[in-house]
Amino acid sequence: MPQAPVASAPAPPASPLTGHGHAAVVGLQWGDEGKGQIVDLLTADHDVIVRFNGGNNAGHSVHIGDEKFALHLLPSGITYPGKLSVIGNGVVVDPSPDTGLLKEIDTLAARGVTVDATNLIVSGRAHAVLPYHKAEDKLYDSAVAAAWDHDPIGTTGRGIGPCYADKALRSSAIRMVDLLDAESLHGKLKRNVTIKNAVLRALAEVCDADFEPFDADDLFEQVAAWGARLAPMIGDTRRTLWDAESAGRAILFEGANAALLDVDHGTYPFVTSSTTSVLGAATGSGLAPRKLHTVIGVAKAYTSRVGGGPHPTELDDATGEHIRQAGREFGTTTGRPRRVGWLDLTAVRYTAQLNGVNALVLTGLSVLAGLDTLRVCVDYELDGKRLGDFPPDAATLAQATPIYEDLPGFSEPTGGVRAYQGLPDQARAYVERVEAFVGVPVRIVCVGPRRDQVIRRG
Ligand code: GDP
Ligand code: IMO
Ligand code: MG
Repeated sequence: MPQAPVASAPAPPASPLTGHGHAAVVGLQWGDEGKGQIVDLLTADHDVIVRFNGGNNAGHSVHIGDEKFALHLLPSGITYPGKLSVIGNGVVVDPSPDTGLLKEIDTLAARGVTVDATNLIVSGRAHAVLPYHKAEDKLYDSAVAAAWDHDPIGTTGRGIGPCYADKALRSSAIRMVDLLDAESLHGKLKRNVTIKNAVLRALAEVCDADFEPFDADDLFEQVAAWGARLAPMIGDTRRTLWDAESAGRAILFEGANAALLDVDHGTYPFVTSSTTSVLGAATGSGLAPRKLHTVIGVAKAYTSRVGGGPHPTELDDATGEHIRQAGREFGTTTGRPRRVGWLDLTAVRYTAQLNGVNALVLTGLSVLAGLDTLRVCVDYELDGKRLGDFPPDAATLAQATPIYEDLPGFSEPTGGVRAYQGLPDQARAYVERVEAFVGVPVRIVCVGPRRDQVIRRG
């Protein structure tokens, strides 16, 4: 196929929020900020929607009217006709019909959304999450906890960490392209199953758990069948993006997980295993970083976290329970109750800097209605000293005490408000305090998860 000439590339169409060019949507907290809602919204102005990191540890909800779609691997623009969804090389893909991509495709088909080679392309370079990765994920956290007095990370159990570990190890990795060559796949699975069974047996012994060894031939039958179904959708996504870029199409990157879960810049080791910030968009897709013009950072008006790790503003009281119920804060992927707390502005300012965010979205504002005082964390204190910034290691953060600024609350329900000026004065003051502290304009406020509960500003 001839390469499209760069010089003749027309400019992508302008979007009211993102202007000309390509954009990314990323989470600024510990996940579940409402990225799916914003990607769904912005899909209208883009042609190609790209996942570049993570796997089905992500759970992005899209509410259209009374219908809710929970997406895990498929980009949140998938329900739009005429848009191309891309799963980039940086994603780890569980292909299976019980927990993975084929399950999502089948579930959407049953709801009238067709996903096939006309609207989805999966990178052949993306690594495949296989059943032994899921077993390893579940056993590993328990084995470490049993062997050492250490809080478990509390992973989603989706095999994400072990799959990225195999990617780094190289010799035991299987990529999506490998699913297309049955003979070589069989050999690789035989080799891997021998090693994985030994590893799983050892881990199970450490934490006194049950362990069911894998059979390489059975696994091959399964995985080859998944590969046969997905084959038409597996391709060279780097080339697809280059062609789209050259033809002047607008590309939207959809971050999974969130910046405080970033393997380098998050609250390590209580993080996921990929580059969740926008810094991963280029390596996870193959499109060069200078092509990205707009970075939209999504933060919730309070904080939530699932799994282990420090959470300085966590509320273990009636206010926390009120927020959890009002915000329906139960995991999209695992159903676990989320650990909610006050908005940590020090954390959001840090992740906005890390991502180079030039537009903020504040979701969940309606959840705060009915609270007399709204607290926001503006710094931390440790041993009588202010830290002045988000600390680079989780142990310091775990010991630090938040310093709060108190803002007046509002009592009126806001879920039906559709214009910024229609929000209560105190709600607007809260939004404006966020943008002043973070130093980035809040361009969208969400007063609920539905498509119509979005208020654009400016
Ligand atoms: P994502 O992973 O960033 O796409 O977000 P999820 O869909 O997993 O989770 C968003 C959570 O925020 C859900 O529990 C919602 O009930 C809650 N929520 C509260 N207010 C809002 C809002 O205004 N918009 C959105 N999208 N979610 C909200
Ligand atoms: P979205 O895209 C919330 C958390 C897990 C666990 C840690 C490591 O929906 O915002 P992993 O299975 O990735 O090894 O788990 O990271 N985690 C998320 N929490 N939202 C997510 O994604 C998450 N993805 C991973 O709960 O604490
Ligand atoms: Mg989520």
